[in-house]
Amino acid sequence: MTDKTQTIHSEWSSRFAFILAATGSAVGLGNIWKFPYITGENGGGAFVLVYLLCVAGLGIPIMIAEIMMGRRGRQSPINTMQTLAQQADADSRWHYLGWMGMIAGFLILGYYSVIAGWSMAYIFKAFFGGFFSSDATEIKALFDDLMNSPIQQIFWHSVFMVITMQVVSRGVRGGLEKAVNFFMPALFFLLLILVGYAMSSGSYQQGLDFLFTPDFSKINANAVLTAMGHAFFTLSLGMGAIMVYGSYLPGHVSIAKTTFFIAGADTIVALLAGIAIFPLVFANNLQVDSGPGLIFQTLPLAFGHMGGGWLFGVLFFLLLFVAALTSSISLIEPTVAWLVENKDMDRPQACIWSGVACWLLGVAVVFSFNIWSGHTFFGKNLFELLDYLTANLMLPLGGLAIAVFSGWIMKTSDSAQELALPEQGYQIWQFLIKFVAPPAVFLVFLHVIGVFL
Ligand code: TRP
Repeated sequence: MTDKTQTIHSEWSSRFAFILAATGSAVGLGNIWKFPYITGENGGGAFVLVYLLCVAGLGIPIMIAEIMMGRRGRQSPINTMQTLAQQADADSRWHYLGWMGMIAGFLILGYYSVIAGWSMAYIFKAFFGGFFSSDATEIKALFDDLMNSPIQQIFWHSVFMVITMQVVSRGVRGGLEKAVNFFMPALFFLLLILVGYAMSSGSYQQGLDFLFTPDFSKINANAVLTAMGHAFFTLSLGMGAIMVYGSYLPGHVSIAKTTFFIAGADTIVALLAGIAIFPLVFANNLQVDSGPGLIFQTLPLAFGHMGGGWLFGVLFFLLLFVAALTSSISLIEPTVAWLVENKDMDRPQACIWSGVACWLLGVAVVFSFNIWSGHTFFGKNLFELLDYLTANLMLPLGGLAIAVFSGWIMKTSDSAQELALPEQGYQIWQFLIKFVAPPAVFLVFLHVIGVFL
């Protein structure tokens, strides 16, 4: 076991490599696909404000805690939690946190891969001129055609799963660092071009108002829960993904500084995506609450109309696919690391087992968009149910547990040593992780239960 732990536990080649990988995990479909459509569904400005507050007040301190715990434990989340609980003389049942995280990552990847498949399908639609001189109705028809075709979706979902598992089987360092190094700046650049186009669309101001003028009458407890859940989702928190990445982090690196960078980059990408998309929604009289299809029904319009749109369209969906890939890797890494540590498998074997299981779940998700769309539980189809269960319940619960463990259970001497922060910085972190994060998550949960009762 010790030998094996060491072989899996290669370290990142540098602080920069860790930043790239963690940013690659954070920046993904959550920023570009999910943030705009849930903002649309929840009325805009007020929702965005709550989301930003959650990133700053909960996301950042919890990310610091999760990376710190990973680096101290240096194993898969389940085994890390076991070790840390022992070190703190705490109940060994804390390792169930690792289990919940592993299951959450697995459930998320089940639908994440399907959406990533949509963006792969769109690379080809863009390539073959699908976005040319199209109006909003034609673009919508293009999306509906994909939604109604289980075969197309399963095909792309399968291709995506194979590529993901191929990358994961080579280990976190092979290839990943290079991919992120190139794609992050490129994605950023393309988003700026799209924002530039949005400025010329005529409804730019209306889009900005929608995003940044809060109207609190538009949100309720459920919207607040969605905003909080999304803060966890978009930063990849609460399920051990960042914990595993932290476990590969060299000892001398400043965790807090690294976290600020990751959270900052992640937030900027999401806001840029929103700024690029909403002016188009208003300029073309589309519905702000059109749901998961939102970016697929708006951005092609921009590509259809702007100079060089063909090239930008292909590039954009290609980059979205890469962004999804670097996130997916971190969703499955805890499961793979655990199978390797505990089930005597090598990485390729672990990838095959977990990949096949995830693929099957994804096929069911594909059906939930067409032939099974009538089958709902609590009014939600399988996709919506998985999303709600993971982003709104499991991740905040995981985050709550991480906050409680790192703030109240772990010895302060241990966390202080690992974080190596200046005195004041450490105190701010302690305050947020002990007195702000746990009550905040708890209160939001209570509020939502109150709404249901
Ligand atoms: N953060 C990613 C996104 O925004 C998704 C993701 C990757 C994730 N790893 C995670 C979400 C771990 C929760 C937990 O697209």
